[in-house]
Amino acid sequence: MDDAPTDLKVALIIASVRAERFAPVVAAWSRERIEAHGGIELDVVDLADFSLPVTLDGSGDTDRLRDRIGAADAFVLVTPEYNHGYPGYLKIAVDAVLDEWAAKPLAFVSYGGLAGGARSVEQLRPVFAELQVTTIREAIVFSGVWERFDASGSLVEPERHEAAAKTVLDQLLWWGRALRRARALEPVR
Ligand SMILES: Cc1cc2nc3c(=O)[nH]c(=O)nc-3n(C[C@H](O)[C@H](O)[C@H](O)COP(=O)(O)O)c2cc1C
Repeated sequence: MDDAPTDLKVALIIASVRAERFAPVVAAWSRERIEAHGGIELDVVDLADFSLPVTLDGSGDTDRLRDRIGAADAFVLVTPEYNHGYPGYLKIAVDAVLDEWAAKPLAFVSYGGLAGGARSVEQLRPVFAELQVTTIREAIVFSGVWERFDASGSLVEPERHEAAAKTVLDQLLWWGRALRRARALEPVR
């Protein structure tokens, strides 16, 4: 069975909710690469648009987030690094969602200072493993992110990151299609 012609539903998740965040620049570039790649139906899930309770009691926008995660076949997570870790609000969002994550792939786009958010990514891999999310080995990493984009939000030297995006999205689509077929054949255990 070849389901390649059907677009894969990808949720682009924006993890920073800071008032003065840099996230929109990185998210816009990610969105552009996803649209250029093709084969993807995109849903932008900006965590700043969701009010999620720290008590994880299912109140606020929890159901709305679960629905959006549940509707996706795969994820691209745009995340910064705060004090060598990932944002606390992202953990609340991850924990607020239940089985909707399971048996789907997730690719990382990280950004920050010297390490470009790579520490955040490596801490998130075991978190997502617990949720039966397959994380894509290659990641798109923006170190010294402030110097990488010009004032209009364009990458100053786009070639390397565009090549990385192609590799990551190829891998995401492979896993996304494979796991979509698998979920259709048998419920996730
Ligand atoms: C509380 C805080 C802690 C930070 N810690 C780190 C860090 O450990 N490593 C790093 O590379 N950048 C760090 N930064 C810089 C962020 O990577 C940078 O501010 C980035 O723009 C954050 O993403 P955002 O603006 O979309 O929230 C930190 C920023 C904040 C606000």
